[in-house]
Amino acid sequence: MPVIIRQVGPCFAGEVAGIDMRKPLAPDEVAAIHAGMDRYAVLVFRNQDIDDAQQLAFTRSLGEIEHAIGTSLRATEDYRLPTTFADVSNLDRQDKPFARDDRRRLFAIGNRLWHSDSSFKPVPAKYSLLHAISIPSKGGDTQFADMRAAYDALDDETKAQVEGLVCEHSQMFSRQQIGFFDFTDEERERFRPVRQCMVRTHPVTGRKSLYLSSHAGSIVGWPVPEARGFLRDLIEHATQREFVYTHKWRIGDLVMWDNRQTMHRARPFPASEPRDMRRTTLAGDGPTVAQAA
Ligand code: OGA
Ligand code: MN
Repeated sequence: MPVIIRQVGPCFAGEVAGIDMRKPLAPDEVAAIHAGMDRYAVLVFRNQDIDDAQQLAFTRSLGEIEHAIGTSLRATEDYRLPTTFADVSNLDRQDKPFARDDRRRLFAIGNRLWHSDSSFKPVPAKYSLLHAISIPSKGGDTQFADMRAAYDALDDETKAQVEGLVCEHSQMFSRQQIGFFDFTDEERERFRPVRQCMVRTHPVTGRKSLYLSSHAGSIVGWPVPEARGFLRDLIEHATQREFVYTHKWRIGDLVMWDNRQTMHRARPFPASEPRDMRRTTLAGDGPTVAQAA
């Protein structure tokens, strides 16, 4: 079947017809998906009635998997899914929603801040693929912002200012913003900051994008309050309505985004209702900047 992509967002994001993830992809389908990602940065695939093994097989046909180990506050023994998946659900091992004040839930509320996946890892993620197994009765949308359009819309002075800047990213910085401070010594070590450049160039299209994330908590060489203020202004600029696509989930949707070219955030939903979302992630090519020893 030919792969057809129709734009659904303001300046990016496409909905794909002609892909059935229950079957292996043909080489021309793989090529069409990568070309679609280069152009649209977010792709929506509706009605994908797939199990975890099929999601994994589809993901692997596009590249190398990034494992999710030690990136949440779930202990290894309460993983609901293998480490080939990031468990983006609000569910415990018995598939019961976390209590409202459960520490694992409160940490995961950090996903409601604009971010780019794994910007807190030395090699950040390339694509993320999120599949909806169950959704709440209301809320729980995911929003995406086009960081290429955001870069293009900067004035020349700001473009010159951001060029060459390096930020430090940690999941502790994003959680501090929502009033979550109580990290153990082990978590402080596990979440220690990594460096990322603020401007990235897409390896195929050559387009520049602002590489921002709520995990960014400082700019190398800047006083922290000044850096935080600047980062806040840039995120505000980059997430204006004209750069944002809001995805309203249906069961069976799989949404894939390019973390190098977009930010995203989850929207709130009732805490008592299950929201079972499973993410596979494709590894990035390498660090965006040399890492401190
Ligand atoms: C993610 C994420 C947002 C959501 O899967 O990385 O941030 O709406 N998800 O669950
Ligand atoms: Mn995310």
